[in-house]
Amino acid sequence: MDTRSPVVDLTDVDVFVDGGHHASFVWLREHEPVYRNPLPDGGKPLPDGGKPLPDGGKPLPDGGGFWALTRYDDVVAAYSDHTAFSSLGGAVLGGSFRSDADTASGRMLVASDPPRHRMLRKVMHQVFTPAVVDRVGAVVTRLVDEAVRRMLADGGCDFATDIAPRLPAGALMGMLGLTYDEACHLIGLTRRMIGYRDSVLVDTAGDERLRLAESQADIFEFFADLLRDRGSTRGDDLLSVLTGASLNGRPLTEDEILYNCMNVAVGGNETSSYTACAGLLALTEHPEQARLLAGRPELLDTAVNEMLRWASTNAYVQRIATRDVELGGRTIRAGDVVTLWNVSANRDEDQFPNAHRFDVTRTPNRHLSYGVGIHRCIGATLAHTELTTLFRRLHTEKVGFAVAGRVSRLRSNFILGITSLPLRVTGER
Ligand code: HEM
Repeated sequence: MDTRSPVVDLTDVDVFVDGGHHASFVWLREHEPVYRNPLPDGGKPLPDGGKPLPDGGKPLPDGGGFWALTRYDDVVAAYSDHTAFSSLGGAVLGGSFRSDADTASGRMLVASDPPRHRMLRKVMHQVFTPAVVDRVGAVVTRLVDEAVRRMLADGGCDFATDIAPRLPAGALMGMLGLTYDEACHLIGLTRRMIGYRDSVLVDTAGDERLRLAESQADIFEFFADLLRDRGSTRGDDLLSVLTGASLNGRPLTEDEILYNCMNVAVGGNETSSYTACAGLLALTEHPEQARLLAGRPELLDTAVNEMLRWASTNAYVQRIATRDVELGGRTIRAGDVVTLWNVSANRDEDQFPNAHRFDVTRTPNRHLSYGVGIHRCIGATLAHTELTTLFRRLHTEKVGFAVAGRVSRLRSNFILGITSLPLRVTGER
C-alpha cells in the first residue's frame, strides 16, 4: 500500500457519504493510528493557527484540531480509561456539548463522569428493565408486522422511511407511553438534529450551529410539554423515573430531566433504525449471506451483531484528555479533544479476520458499535431486541429483496445512516 500520507480530514462529511472513509481508516490504522486531524469539526482554523470554536465560544486549549484513535486496541484502551479521557465535553465533535460552553456537561448521562455518571446511570437503568424491553418488543412486533404486510401487498417500499423508523417508534411508545403519531413527531425532531447538515432533512441555508441549537431546543420543548402534561404520574416510564429520582438526596432539576430524555431519544432514535437499513442493504449486497441466514435462522443473533459491526452507525465518540497521555508514540496533552473511531476499530484486521467481509456467522465478534466501559450503550439490549424482532419477521416471509432505486446516505460523520433505501420484493428466496 502507498505509505505517503493521503490528505485525511475526518470532518469531511462527503467522504463518509461516498464510503471513502474505510480506505482512509485502513491507511490511518497502518501508518498513523494516533492521528492529529488538523481541522476542528464545523469550524475553520484561525489565521494564527490555533483554537477556533465554531460557535465563537471560549477557545479550545488544543489548537482546534483533534486526535483520532483508529486501532481497535487503542480505542478500547481510551474507552476503558475514563479518568484520563473525560466525557464531560459530550460525545459529539463540535456539538453543543463542549466542556466550556456546554450546559449538558455533568447533567446528561453520556456527558458525565463518575461519580455523577454512576448515580445517574443507576437511575436510568430503571427504564431499561427486562419488563420494559419486553413491552417495547411487543409494540415493535405489532408495528413491524403492519409495515411488512403493507410492503408485501405493495411489492416494495422505502425501507428507510416505511419500516426502519418503526423500531425507535416502538421504543418510544414502550418507554415513554407516547402514541404512534407523537413518536413519529419526536423521531422527526431527532432526525433533523442529527441530520443538521443534510439538505434532505433540513434547510441547510444559514448558520449550521444555529440550526443545530434550534433543533435541540425543539426536542427540549417536546419533552417540557410532555412533562407539564404528565404532572406527577408514577410508573416505570422514563419521565416518571426521572421525576421520581434523586441524586445525593436532591431531586433532578427540570434541565437534568430534559437532557436525559433527550439522551434517550437521540441515542435510541438515530441508531437502531439506521443499523437496520445498513443490515438489510448488506444482505442484498451479499446474497450468499442472505441465503445462509435464511437456511439457518439460529444464526440471527450472530447476524445482527455482524450488522452492528458492519454498520458502525455511531461512527465515533468524543472524549477530552484530563492529563498528558502517551499513545502510539504521540503525546496527547491535557485538554486535547480525542475521538474514538468505532467504525475504524470495527474493521481492524488485527481484531477481525477478513474485517471487510460481511459474515453472518462471525464469532467471536467483539464489535465496538455500542462502545465499551462505563458508558457502554445502556440501550444495547433494547436495540438488539428491536433488530432481531425485525429480521425474524422478515425471515418468516421467505421472500427476497432487491434494491430498486438510489440509496441515499445521511450527511454526517457521526451517525452513519441511510435516509432512503428503495426496495422491491423479489418473491420466493
Ligand atoms: C444500534 C443501536 C445503538 C447504537 C449503535 C448505540 C451506540 C451507543 C454508543 C457507542 C454509546 C457510548 C457513548 C459513549 O461512550 O460516549 C451509547 C450510549 C448510550 N446509548 Fe446507545 N446505541 C444504540 C441504541 C440505543 C438505544 C435503543 C437507546 C435508548 C432507547 C440508547 C441510549 C443510549 C444512552 C442513554 C447512552 C449513554 C450511556 C452512558 O453514557 O452511560 N442507545 N450508545
